[in-house]
Amino acid sequence: MPHQIAAQNLICPLDQLPLSQVNNSLCCPSGHTFDLAKQGYVNLLPVQKKRSKDPGDSKEMVLARQRYLDAGIYQPISERLNQICQQILADSIEPCVIDAGCGEGYYLNRLASIPALASANLIGLDISKWAVQAASKRNKKITWLVGTNAQIPVQPNSVDLIVCTFGFYDFARFKPLLKANGMVLLVESGEEHLIELRELIYPEVQRSNVPDLAAAYAEGFELVDQQSIQFKPNTLNHEQVTDLLVMTPHLYRASFEGKQKAAALTELSVTADVVYRLLKIKPKA
Ligand SMILES: C[S@@+](CC[C@H](N)C(=O)[O-])C[C@H]1O[C@@H](n2cnc3c(N)ncnc32)[C@H](O)[C@@H]1O
Repeated sequence: MPHQIAAQNLICPLDQLPLSQVNNSLCCPSGHTFDLAKQGYVNLLPVQKKRSKDPGDSKEMVLARQRYLDAGIYQPISERLNQICQQILADSIEPCVIDAGCGEGYYLNRLASIPALASANLIGLDISKWAVQAASKRNKKITWLVGTNAQIPVQPNSVDLIVCTFGFYDFARFKPLLKANGMVLLVESGEEHLIELRELIYPEVQRSNVPDLAAAYAEGFELVDQQSIQFKPNTLNHEQVTDLLVMTPHLYRASFEGKQKAAALTELSVTADVVYRLLKIKPKA
């Protein structure tokens, strides 16, 4: 019995025609076929759309993030995400929610348990096949796709909410996918996020706020809610500090001395500071 892909709004990344499942493949009317991997996910990132052979996070980064998140260190971030989504989707009927840049699926898998999403069409998409492979083992009811945020392969006007946690968003590409009341929820690092680690590994720390939303406003979005959480997770042990460095860009950006200092740590207490911004397409006047 082939694994059944739940999402009914997928389109072919090559010609944008609807995809339907035939045995172990998704097929479009012009004959393009995309086979399901044995874990049940589908690769909808055609070679011609790839900028590198193995795009997105590496296997090592994905495994580090999975260990770190599964230890519950960022559970409050996921809990607030779930609360916000429960509130905004409580009255939606069979909503379609996409986690754009879902990584190894921690947040979307936990989001799937909220009452508002009991009969939802949930899609997790990431450009890293390693991330999607790991995610697809978490929850078989979610549709997991290898793909790019620059061309999410779903029908126009079919999505209620696009969630982007610590990811790469593109308002111009997201907008046509959203229903009239569709929303985008950005989950990003606040000024104090991991400040203790940053002070250790960089000669000078840039305390920068979340990016401005000019690109969103230019596309006709408006900010409808902004909230944040700060908390101190349990002290990280040496392995968790190493995982944190591997799963973020900090490992590449840190100075040589900074990396040595981090490698010598036996434990580290960090601050988590996360900002949630909810955007909606402005109704036409
Ligand atoms: C910092 S990680 C965040 C992962 C996950 N959202 C989380 O918070 O655990 C960023 C993710 O974006 C993915 N990514 C990078 N460029 C992408 C793109 N163009 N389209 C989709 N995913 C992308 C990476 O592979 C990586 O998994």
